[in-house]
Amino acid sequence: MNTPLKITGKTGVCGVIGDPVGHTVSPAMHNAAFSALGLNFVYMPFRVPKKDLADAVQGMRALNIRGLNVTIPHKVEVMALLDEIEPSARAIGAVNVIVNDKGLLKGCNTDAPGFMRALKERGIKVKGRTVVILGAGGASRAICFALASGGAGLIILNRTPGRASQYAADITKATGQTVEAMPLNPQNLAVAMEKGRILVNTTSVGMSPEASETLVKSDIIKPQHTVVDIVYNPVKTRLLKDAEKAGAGTINGLDMLVWQGALAFEKWTGHRAPVEIMRKEALRALKGI
Ligand code: ATR
Repeated sequence: MNTPLKITGKTGVCGVIGDPVGHTVSPAMHNAAFSALGLNFVYMPFRVPKKDLADAVQGMRALNIRGLNVTIPHKVEVMALLDEIEPSARAIGAVNVIVNDKGLLKGCNTDAPGFMRALKERGIKVKGRTVVILGAGGASRAICFALASGGAGLIILNRTPGRASQYAADITKATGQTVEAMPLNPQNLAVAMEKGRILVNTTSVGMSPEASETLVKSDIIKPQHTVVDIVYNPVKTRLLKDAEKAGAGTINGLDMLVWQGALAFEKWTGHRAPVEIMRKEALRALKGI
């Protein structure tokens, strides 16, 4: 059993800034991890509207908050307010973690390496493979950079044509990988799935309460595919259910959520994250939503 949280004069403070933050499972995940390792830290949710972002970052310095997760809608805007940005976060164009080293605020991105780690832990190799990506928002951009840096070729399909081509060129320039961008329609998707071994849904389609939705017709999923969904509520989306039925491998959004959290935890505390405890607590918190 984990020891209960005991706040003292020396407790280190971490948290998440975003708007909204009411549904975040990060406090449950991180507080359980601190407690499991007996670390004198606490993790708090901070709802910060857009207009208050600069004050919140200044407050992080003033209050000597050790670490923050940054979530919607601040991941891009926060970059201009920090002292340093890790090169990988700079390339991705988004920060989801801030580390405060004695007043120096460093912006990092653990979404992308968290995604890659989730794949690696399941034994999925991306090097030399073609990955089909659904969606071209912020999450897609981070995932595409990570995959291409890991040696994958990409086919990005998006509802709004042109959105993906904006960063497809950046990714090719940075990694040398082939990146195709095309409109999302059933024909293009069917052709892409014939070329690709891995499919990643980075859109919100399938998220509760619209849990019966999917962008992928089940008959184009084959046993040789691995299907990854970044949606974590529900943990098993319609897309993942269809993939399982087709005999394909699956990786759910909870895995990625846990790994981005684990990598942030390690940056703030210098300790190896208790990943299984974090997964269990994130799942428990999700069930309570
Ligand atoms: P995030 O930063 O979390 O990735 P986002 O920037 O809003 O969020 O991006 C959401 C992605 O999901 C976009 O690619 C969006 O497509 P558009 O660029 O056409 O808006 C995609 N998306 C959301 N709902 C969709 C739907 N019903 N069908 C297809 N794509 C959808």
